[in-house]
Amino acid sequence: MNYQTNLSRTVLLQRLADGNFHSGETLGQELGVSRSAVSKHVKALTDLGLDIFSVTGKGYRLAKPLSLLKHSEIIANLTPNYSAQINVLNVIDSTNQYLKELSLKPSNGYVCLAEAQTAGRGRHGRTWVSPYGASIYMSMFWSFPGGYQAIGGLSLAVGIAVVNALTKLGVADCQLKWPNDIYLKGKKLAGILVEVEGQMGAACDCIIGIGLNIDLPEHQITIDQPWTDLAKATGGEFDRNFLAANIIDELTTSLRQFEQQGLLPVIAEWKKLDFFADQAVTLTIGNKKLTGICRGIDKDGALLLEHNGEVRPFHGGEISVRAG
Ligand code: BTN
Repeated sequence: MNYQTNLSRTVLLQRLADGNFHSGETLGQELGVSRSAVSKHVKALTDLGLDIFSVTGKGYRLAKPLSLLKHSEIIANLTPNYSAQINVLNVIDSTNQYLKELSLKPSNGYVCLAEAQTAGRGRHGRTWVSPYGASIYMSMFWSFPGGYQAIGGLSLAVGIAVVNALTKLGVADCQLKWPNDIYLKGKKLAGILVEVEGQMGAACDCIIGIGLNIDLPEHQITIDQPWTDLAKATGGEFDRNFLAANIIDELTTSLRQFEQQGLLPVIAEWKKLDFFADQAVTLTIGNKKLTGICRGIDKDGALLLEHNGEVRPFHGGEISVRAG
């Protein structure tokens, strides 16, 4: 998308964000384009997952008001000593990919947030549905000098940090499904994708991606598992800038601690949040399936699965409730 198109769509959204009607003519004048160009921009925004109504004689209106991400508001809500760079973007392929492609290695804590992702990715090669303004899509960079052996359980620590941020904002009873899905009322609320680069024996550069559902549109959404968002699960309204700032703060504190002490200080916390504790589950690793009882995690964040009376650690795979 060229600079002018991006700018026109950003301005258009800023106008529509109040949830009121705006005529095509007025919008065209404000953007310096024709009414038919406005209509094309509206169509493009609808394709990104926004609910925009068009009513003859009245113009365009968003189904509900939208609070856009604002760099200044995120900064204003961070703890005063936050020093890393925060980059707020409009529509990109994936915030993880954006960090991966930076030409210079960023400093620890560098954050990128986007309003929408056109190629958001989840774990196990899945797509992360990323409609415009409906969620938080963010990635943070962190390099661990201790290398691969220093990052065991990292994604679990990230899950705990996100739950802690939500708890501080009054979202009670979040849980964690091993290794790092965040659940609320029995459904997936948020997911974490940690992508790692580094040579054996050298520092490990981690891109920590977080997708948190805030208020997903009812239609156009196909997600292959039970999901929820903060609006549906709590009935409340959430300021994404405030939420993002709280997650950034909590995550930074947690990564500093993880770098020094690993997962150990937070294992007890993880156990309290464990969605599958002592439940009969199926663990799927590639095309293998193993049944057993979840017995928590070990010091490296591996899943402890009891099978035929023996408890063994597993580092990969996905768990689901055992049928029958
Ligand atoms: C999962 O499958 O549960 C992990 C989902 C991670 C999604 C986030 S959204 C921000 C970041 N950018 C991506 O492309 N993916 C992660």
